[in-house]
Amino acid sequence: MHCLDETCHGLREALATLRRRINLLRGDSSRSWLGRKEYWDAAYASGRYKDSYEWNQTCETIWPYVLNTLESRLDAKILHVGCGNSRLGRMLHDDGYINVLNVDYSRVVIKMMQQSQPELQFLCVDCAESGALGEADHFDFCVDKGAIDSLFESNCDSMWQQGCAMIQEIHRVLKPGGKYLVISNGGIGSDVLKATFGHMQSEEIEGYACDLYYKLITIIVCTK
Ligand SMILES: C[S@@+](CC[C@H](N)C(=O)[O-])C[C@H]1O[C@@H](n2cnc3c(N)ncnc32)[C@H](O)[C@@H]1O
Repeated sequence: MHCLDETCHGLREALATLRRRINLLRGDSSRSWLGRKEYWDAAYASGRYKDSYEWNQTCETIWPYVLNTLESRLDAKILHVGCGNSRLGRMLHDDGYINVLNVDYSRVVIKMMQQSQPELQFLCVDCAESGALGEADHFDFCVDKGAIDSLFESNCDSMWQQGCAMIQEIHRVLKPGGKYLVISNGGIGSDVLKATFGHMQSEEIEGYACDLYYKLITIIVCTK
């Protein structure tokens, strides 16, 4: 049974990789905007994503998985990448997690969040830049809700490289044994995560996104 599960998992991954490669070969760039900082700045400035928006899943749906990964370590150093204007940073803060650094490369959204939630910590950097996230082996956990997805789902080679670079940078700043929780729409970067981290587990969950449509989401936990 275990063997069958593993075979199915392997087949699903191989299919996902094949689909991605076909899209790249087709030159399908219909979602290339997803990987551009200019897009996010313009979208947040226009009010398209209002004061608060949740990609993938509501925070309530993923909350048990977040808590399970964080192991109730309230003083842990937590990196929240591609925070956007999600409520996740606020929920972590209100639950007593005192060392959460919320990061996004959109100046617009970081300014918006700093103004509305001055008690939370925010940083505006591009997580795909080497060295951008500070010293090596610093964070206990990293939480990512749709951030690497926006690069990998762009369907273009340069953004794929950016996704790989972001994973490398996150791996660099996590302590040995540190965990990287990825809430992903389909687990599109999972083969890169698997190659970078020593250990990776994933499962699919059901729920609803901000648009209220039913969605299956992949929850991935990588350990350095
Ligand atoms: C799909 S949205 C997810 C937003 C939020 N985490 C949520 O759950 O709704 C992707 C976010 O990642 C940010 N982002 C994408 N690439 C990034 C990078 N290389 N460095 C920092 N932030 C990035 C975007 O600006 C955007 O806010």
